[in-house]
Amino acid sequence: MLEEVQKVEFNKILSTEFVDKEISNNPFAHFVVYKLNDCVAGFVYYSLIYDRIEINQIEVLCDFRGQGIGSKLLKYIIDTNPYGITLEVNKNNKEAIGLYKKFNFKTVAIRRGYYDGVDGLLMERKYEVKDMYILGIESSCDETSCSIVKDGSKEIATVISSQIDIHKDYGGVVPEIASRNHVKNITIVIEQCLNDAEMSMDDIDAIAVTYGPGLIGSLLVGVEAAKTLSFIFNKPLIPVHHIAGHIYANSLVKEMNFPLLALVVSGGHTELVKMLGHYKFEKLGGTLDDAVGECYDKVARVIGLEYPGGPKVDVLAHKGKVTYKLPVPLKDDSYNFSFSGLKSAVINLAHNEKQRGCIIRKEDLAASFQKVAVEEIVSKTKKALENEEVKNLVVAGGVAANKGLREELLKMAKDLDIDVSFPDMKYCTDNAAMIAAAGYYAYLDGRKADLSLNSQSTDKLC
Ligand code: KG4
Ligand code: ZN
Repeated sequence: MLEEVQKVEFNKILSTEFVDKEISNNPFAHFVVYKLNDCVAGFVYYSLIYDRIEINQIEVLCDFRGQGIGSKLLKYIIDTNPYGITLEVNKNNKEAIGLYKKFNFKTVAIRRGYYDGVDGLLMERKYEVKDMYILGIESSCDETSCSIVKDGSKEIATVISSQIDIHKDYGGVVPEIASRNHVKNITIVIEQCLNDAEMSMDDIDAIAVTYGPGLIGSLLVGVEAAKTLSFIFNKPLIPVHHIAGHIYANSLVKEMNFPLLALVVSGGHTELVKMLGHYKFEKLGGTLDDAVGECYDKVARVIGLEYPGGPKVDVLAHKGKVTYKLPVPLKDDSYNFSFSGLKSAVINLAHNEKQRGCIIRKEDLAASFQKVAVEEIVSKTKKALENEEVKNLVVAGGVAANKGLREELLKMAKDLDIDVSFPDMKYCTDNAAMIAAAGYYAYLDGRKADLSLNSQSTDKLC
């Protein structure tokens, strides 16, 4: 094992004190190395077997003994893993037993003759559930955001810096401009969030970050910031899928009960996802072309509303009547959606009216479009709830703010006797509170990243 540890190239791995790595040829095996002045001072070799850690070897090299390094290594394993831990120790090794007892390990069995005839003690430390403060970072599109959330459900502080005013002049998000502005904002947003929470990095237990999907340049800024914090402050780094974040915006409102159906309606996604438990996602269906939010923004543009037009179409729709006939998007038995036909129909209708010298009644067009879009989403959601026998619905993503959609989903949920949850209006669109909330459950599910974490512009939730 020491040989394997010595092979670690520290300058490639980038860490201050600890290097935490999986051993490539054994999916259960990990080691954590503690280094001093670029030398291996000690290491722990352990197996992570689903939800339990077995420490196989803990060693401090001769020259470094008596400096509390064993204690530091053990504390690191305890602080960065939400699991119970077992280990064996020679019953004559009083020093080691004393150290383990200090960390609440208890003897649970005796292994006769385990060490060349000398008994070994099997010691166990139960996982102690403690308050967990996660700092979340989100920068996948045009919002730079940082939030601190306790135990995945209680928001402590959130800061969101939106770039809408910058991008609206272009009619949509310009990726290059977005990433430059994230670079400008990221440290300010993180500092502000810690100040608002009256906390320091010492109070934070882990860093969660959106690694994808989204605009690659934008994602990179958040991911690098999170990696830097994790590196400097030795905190676990948790990668969060953006859509998981949107879904978990609901856990800031009320406890999520399973099995549940998540309806994800955002600028980039329209999906029906079934969840049998925390972080157990199963995709039932999704859009075959455009996302519904994208379609809203396009319709807004056609009728002359500023980016992001979705919320403005929603307001207008409530002032108009359904007078324009638009096609029903996808008549089939699947849980899939299609919005490009509806989008093209609105564009063509607006164009033809203009050609004929007629003025479009914007309110009526918004109302007509919203009716078809909402009906399509509600009918597919209803079908999934009925067929999948799920009694809980959570709605997620920017379009979850849509009043027309909320009204219709509430009506449907009442008819089917379904419990429905929406995120707070301010957390429908992109924010880091949802990432910190999802990060908590991702952490409990054993999802940790090391400093090689990279952003991914396209990545499936499941
Ligand atoms: O979730 P989000 O912030 O970004 C993505 O992850 O895509 O969603 C943004 C989308 C935009 O397309 C925006 O127009 C839409 O959500 N949106 C709405 C409403 N509020 C935001 N669409 C319809 N009605 C709304 N009230
Ligand atoms: Zn989003």
